[in-house]
Amino acid sequence: MIERQAYVDIVKSVLAHIDAGTTDSAPDVLRVPTAIYTDPELFEREKQTIFRDNPQLVGFSSELPEPGSYSTFDELGVPVLLTRDKAGQVHAFLNACTHRSARLKEGSGTAASITCPYHAWGFDLKGQLRNVYEEKSFGPIEKEFYNLVRLPVEEKYGLIFVGLKPDLRFSIDEILGDTAPLFAAWNLAQTTLVGTHEWPLKANWKLALDTFCEGYHFTPLHKASLGDVSIGNLSLVHFFGPDQRNHRVAFPNLTIKRLKDVPEAEWGADLFNEFQLVHFIYPNISLLVSPAAVELFQLYPGKAVGEHVTRYRCFWRSSQPEAGWGVNSPQQHFEFVREIVDKEDYWISANVMKSLNGQLRSFNTFGRNEPALHNMHKAFARGVGRPLEQAPLVQDGMA
Ligand code: FES
Ligand SMILES: [Fe+2]
Repeated sequence: MIERQAYVDIVKSVLAHIDAGTTDSAPDVLRVPTAIYTDPELFEREKQTIFRDNPQLVGFSSELPEPGSYSTFDELGVPVLLTRDKAGQVHAFLNACTHRSARLKEGSGTAASITCPYHAWGFDLKGQLRNVYEEKSFGPIEKEFYNLVRLPVEEKYGLIFVGLKPDLRFSIDEILGDTAPLFAAWNLAQTTLVGTHEWPLKANWKLALDTFCEGYHFTPLHKASLGDVSIGNLSLVHFFGPDQRNHRVAFPNLTIKRLKDVPEAEWGADLFNEFQLVHFIYPNISLLVSPAAVELFQLYPGKAVGEHVTRYRCFWRSSQPEAGWGVNSPQQHFEFVREIVDKEDYWISANVMKSLNGQLRSFNTFGRNEPALHNMHKAFARGVGRPLEQAPLVQDGMA
């Protein structure tokens, strides 16, 4: 019911925009300094503040499918070990032994307990030290001080968030704000991994994120791939979560236009096929939810300010083929999305970065029709404690 009402509201707003020739808008055009993508000092500060001070969506429940499942997460300088204990509860720890800090696990898999590869200390799936190898010769220790270092973790609606500081407090309901009921209805715990892809891209992490947040580029950049699917330059933006810093953009499909001539009471049960919902979850997640699939893009700072890594995972939600995208298998769907990002969005992001590295342009501009970008970059600026000012209007180049 909640789902249906949300979709009806989206369709109505889209049809009103189509009639009026409008799109959701910001009040003004915003010029941002290009230094936000090139300043090494700002980049270091972002890593220390917004990435460490905020919970991270590390993955989906289906990646820890059963009691005894474990996985690891290493993208942000704090090695994390996730386990699902025998009762089904998820835990997060520093992936380091409490004897002499050896790394405990690699990759993912299942295990009844955790044995350190260095001197065979044994921990249970709740992180408690259970066994000291050759304990008599090692000597007495206070075992209760040698449990694994616990990190805050929550699992809800099929999502797993972890904090990289032991004292970080958060809740998934707070993160999702008023979109939480939709996540509850979607039941993303029931998903199957279709494919993964990783881009080490020569583009700043925020620059790469920008491409997920507006539909202004759809018709020019995605003409060949999405030209027959999506309506360009028309999107609905909904802000949610703490400080309204997260957003969800609804990108309508061309098929939605036929509903103009159909009374609302006759709109079908498959309204969710009429648009794509792309969520930005602060600071680095793009999550596309559609009836058949979920696309998770996690963007991480690279070695230098002009580099980042995107991890993409495609999960399948149902056995039904995706309507509208002209694909008929989960694998084809995954490859279709990967190719669009690879050949179109990330091709352009890398070539924008090359331009910015030339250091001859002082500002980039977000149009009124790109409201999610305004909101997102203002949130990043608050995250590093430096409000985003309108960049000075100057003619770059020869004076
Ligand atoms: S470092 Fe783990 S048992 Fe020695
Ligand atoms: Fe795009």
